[in-house]
Amino acid sequence: MIFDSHSHYDDSAFDEDRDEVLSGLYDKGIDKVISASSSWDSLEKVLNICHKYSFAYPALGIHPENATDLTSERRPFLEELIAREKPVAIGEIGLDYHYDEPPRDYQKDIFVYQLELAKKHNLPIIVHSRDAAEDTYEIIKAHNPDKKGVIHCFSSSYEMAVKYIDMGYYIGIGGVVTFKNAAKLKDIASRIPLTSILLETDCPYMAPVPFRGKRNDSSLLTYVAEEIASLRGISAEEVIATTHANTCTLFNV
Ligand code: NI
Repeated sequence: MIFDSHSHYDDSAFDEDRDEVLSGLYDKGIDKVISASSSWDSLEKVLNICHKYSFAYPALGIHPENATDLTSERRPFLEELIAREKPVAIGEIGLDYHYDEPPRDYQKDIFVYQLELAKKHNLPIIVHSRDAAEDTYEIIKAHNPDKKGVIHCFSSSYEMAVKYIDMGYYIGIGGVVTFKNAAKLKDIASRIPLTSILLETDCPYMAPVPFRGKRNDSSLLTYVAEEIASLRGISAEEVIATTHANTCTLFNV
């Protein structure tokens, strides 16, 4: 069975048929999903999904694009929520320099604050990093080298992947690896240890070929597993079994 290590079933793209999609996953070969929050409003939505579906495990945190959601007045509430709900991870958190907002220094403050939360609650982290590879790595190294986590939707270099793996981190790989123009990621997926890879959708985004541009869901991870398998010259079953075990190990489920 497949473990989807990164999903956003709270997204409005699933408002019409969320229950249908989620309750149909097991029959399509998916037995566990991590449901990652991204904004202040999504915290409650993610928890509702995880209360309803025992195969969905919550990760709580604020995405860098929504860093301004996490005002100092709200921080005690987030801490209380984490203590009460016992998420399997803090995420998704990180840095996104693709746009100019929120300001980079602000994003860094929020990232460091959430890394400290992970440390305090002894939880792994789910990291989003776009156009911010060096800063992300330096901050993690300085603030959270031991607590482990996954660099989700990995988009940096092979050398950077190795640096994270050396710290005990995992590399999240999803639909992008099936894209024709993803030569760098295909190379990474073929060379890093399979024991360091997690499968992820990031759904509703990042659907694999032949569904690129359409709404993604966990059932499409079979295409990602097949692509990684063919790049490595092994069976999709081996990719699915090993990444499933990796995900259980990281999130302690
Ligand atoms: Ni995500």
